[in-house]
Amino acid sequence: MILGLETSCDETAAAVITEDGEILANVVSSQADLHAKYGGVVPEVASRRHLELVMPVLREALDEAGVGLDRFERIAVTQGPGLIGALLVGLSAAKALAWARRLPLAPVNHLHGHVASLFLQPDPVDPPFLCLLASGGHTLLLDVQDHGGFAVLGTTLDDAAGEAFDKGARLLGLGYPGGAEIDRLASEGDPEAYEFPIARVSGLDFSFSGLKTALLYTVRELDAGELERRKADLAASYQRAIVTALVARVEQTGADRIAVVGGVAANSELRAALPDAALAPLDLCTDNAAMISSAGRYVEAIPFARYLAVDAYASTAA
Ligand code: KG4
Ligand code: ZN
Repeated sequence: MILGLETSCDETAAAVITEDGEILANVVSSQADLHAKYGGVVPEVASRRHLELVMPVLREALDEAGVGLDRFERIAVTQGPGLIGALLVGLSAAKALAWARRLPLAPVNHLHGHVASLFLQPDPVDPPFLCLLASGGHTLLLDVQDHGGFAVLGTTLDDAAGEAFDKGARLLGLGYPGGAEIDRLASEGDPEAYEFPIARVSGLDFSFSGLKTALLYTVRELDAGELERRKADLAASYQRAIVTALVARVEQTGADRIAVVGGVAANSELRAALPDAALAPLDLCTDNAAMISSAGRYVEAIPFARYLAVDAYASTAA
């Protein structure tokens, strides 16, 4: 069995999975409410909250799985990328657990974790495939040839897709995080009411900052009453532009096996637009520790005691 911890952003998460990818417990405590009043994640607030939540969340995962610490073969933990103070809480907890039980530690790249959400039971998807990873921090097209890693084919030049959702939601006066809010409101609106621009970027890269600016200018033209009346149409049109941009890039690759992961993979319009793609299960799209445990099966674990000096990293070269 593998125990996994994830604290890279504003979810404190612990999970227990078996070696063949069966999820025995997957506990996620979101701090979204705590950060909502700031309209985004405040790193220092997140770190402090992780510190309070990491042990209760871990205990809950062990209880749910009905196992004690003596049952694990390794501990998996997100090493980066993410908020450095937040990552350090999970990494320190994982080191302490592994050290106390003389277990190896598997440091996991958070992005590899999102991809590995596809490798879990009951319907595991095996490589090779082309993977769209769209989250709050990243928008990537990945060539996934095996379980252990990926090659980056395209990335965003500015905002991530989830960030575009969150910033758009803020302009529309919706809550944080905004993706799910826009998704819900868009179902009541006309996606063709407004024509928002889709960035022309060469190759397989993405750009979403122009779209966000277009929404800003559109919203500025409306008074409070009009904004309220047109909100659903704005949400639907804005979502349509993001989804169209994502789908266009995926189709441009010509790949026949396609997978979609990350928080934005929860979006209903995106899911409907790629009916033949392997979609991460809804509860594994946004950050969780089951996906980190899953990736932890495929990385080289660091043997007992040698990991005490391992550090977290905020960003990757990719
Ligand atoms: O993967 P994730 O939990 O965290 C990162 O690694 O960044 O992704 C969070 C992002 C947020 O930007 C959130 O607004 C977006 O995923 N998101 C959605 C939906 N649910 C979450 N975006 C669009 N539609 C959704 N239903
Ligand atoms: Zn994530």
